[in-house]
Amino acid sequence: MVYDNIVLIGFMGSGKTSVGRILARELFKNFVDVDSMIEKEQGASVSEIFKTKGEEHFRGLEQECINSLTQQKGQIIATGGGLPIYSSISDKSLIVYINADFEVILKRLTKREREKRPLLQDEARAKILFDERKDTYEELATFSVDANQRIPVFIHLIRDFILDQRVL
Ligand code: S3P
Repeated sequence: MVYDNIVLIGFMGSGKTSVGRILARELFKNFVDVDSMIEKEQGASVSEIFKTKGEEHFRGLEQECINSLTQQKGQIIATGGGLPIYSSISDKSLIVYINADFEVILKRLTKREREKRPLLQDEARAKILFDERKDTYEELATFSVDANQRIPVFIHLIRDFILDQRVL
């Protein structure tokens, strides 16, 4: 199987964007973050889009964004935590699940990082979302990595897996 792109999935705050940036640098690939791309195109933050246009509208933007991105090749794409739940991702993508525990994620995020995420505002509801989504992330993943430690501890596992595969 030859993969077109590498797509990082996982719950909010699991480290997809940071991991994606490092991997792109190490593997000489382009890095794209779906949330940032949407924010740029819409001229509004994710929180603002949720507030003014609603979550359903945001999910439509995510699907459009991942469709257009996966028409190109050779990129590392970081997705928002809900993207793989609501959107389909091209089956030519090598999907890496950044798998961190809920408690670890909460401890890692600064107050500001929490505030940026509308679905993390209510901790109890976020935990329910986490439990609901976990199986889907696992099922979609070509490769799942234990991301409960600091990035330098696990990044090489992802890099080595990718280097063993054929990615354009
Ligand atoms: C969401 C995750 C966020 C962002 C939006 C919704 C989700 O991205 O897309 O707030 O439904 O899990 P991160 O996973 O980068 O926080």
